[in-house]
Amino acid sequence: MIAFYSVIRISYTPLDSYNILAVGSDFLTSLAVVLIIQYIIEVERQKNVLKEEKKREELRLKEEKMILLGEMAAGLAHEIRNPLTIIQGFLQHSKQNQYNIQPWYDLILSEVKRMNKLTVEFLQFSKPNVSLYQSHSIHECLKRVISLTESRASSLGHQIVYVEYNPNLCIPMDFDKMVQVYVNLINNSIQSMIESGTITIRLLKVENKAVVEVMDTGKGINEADLKKIFNPFYTTKPDGTGLGLSICQKIIQDHGGTIKAASTLNHGTSFTICFPMNNA
Ligand SMILES: Nc1ncnc2c1ncn2[C@@H]1O[C@H](COP(=O)(O)OP(=O)(O)O)[C@@H](O)[C@H]1O
Ligand SMILES: [Mg+2]
Repeated sequence: MIAFYSVIRISYTPLDSYNILAVGSDFLTSLAVVLIIQYIIEVERQKNVLKEEKKREELRLKEEKMILLGEMAAGLAHEIRNPLTIIQGFLQHSKQNQYNIQPWYDLILSEVKRMNKLTVEFLQFSKPNVSLYQSHSIHECLKRVISLTESRASSLGHQIVYVEYNPNLCIPMDFDKMVQVYVNLINNSIQSMIESGTITIRLLKVENKAVVEVMDTGKGINEADLKKIFNPFYTTKPDGTGLGLSICQKIIQDHGGTIKAASTLNHGTSFTICFPMNNA
């Protein structure tokens, strides 16, 4: 259109250098304006595409969360139904037949305790309070964990060895939730060591990541079971809830980190936790 207009204009005006220059400069100016407008439209379009992609991603994450929550709720209901059925059976039997259930008090109580434990642990799944995220030293966090677990470990004949590499690694965290993560891991380690053993904790910086390793000399996990340990309600313990590791994984992921497990049967298990250090 601009070219067409320029040709018509030049055919009306005498062909001297001034007119050619004027038409040429008008042509170029119009072309530049059109290109700028096109560029603005394209930038806006790209912005919209990005916005829509972000919205879609948010929706997908929300959906995933809802699915996970649904699965968790179904799992919890399933886990709680068994003890409830047992207690209901005792009570009905006792009511109908004037049956003395005193000898079963302990069993009933232990089932009630189990349900309580399940719900208490389940509540830890609540999202870490983002407003509580403050920059804390991982070293301080690990020191707190060790002070909380050391006496129990040593009373069972185990030792906790903390190999500290970097006391200055700080990340934004919900301190109490993070303590919970390592306490859960150490409790598992303690439970996995039948004879006296060692739990080694290491804190190091690898590239731009803060890495925490928790290693034990326990009974280890075979390859097939290793794939299941982060599944909610997966447990090999008679009094386990199977929620510990899935809670750890959730808290770590909420902090932008990852957790991996490696194990050798009859030798021990190690968990490696990595957190990105953005301002490193
Ligand atoms: N350090 C470890 N050594 C050996 N097995 C482990 C270790 N940590 C976890 N496991 C296995 O993973 C399972 C799930 O652990 P967890 O989610 O904490 O639930 P729970 O401790 O209630 O069983 C345990 O039952 C156990 O079989
Ligand atoms: Mg556990």
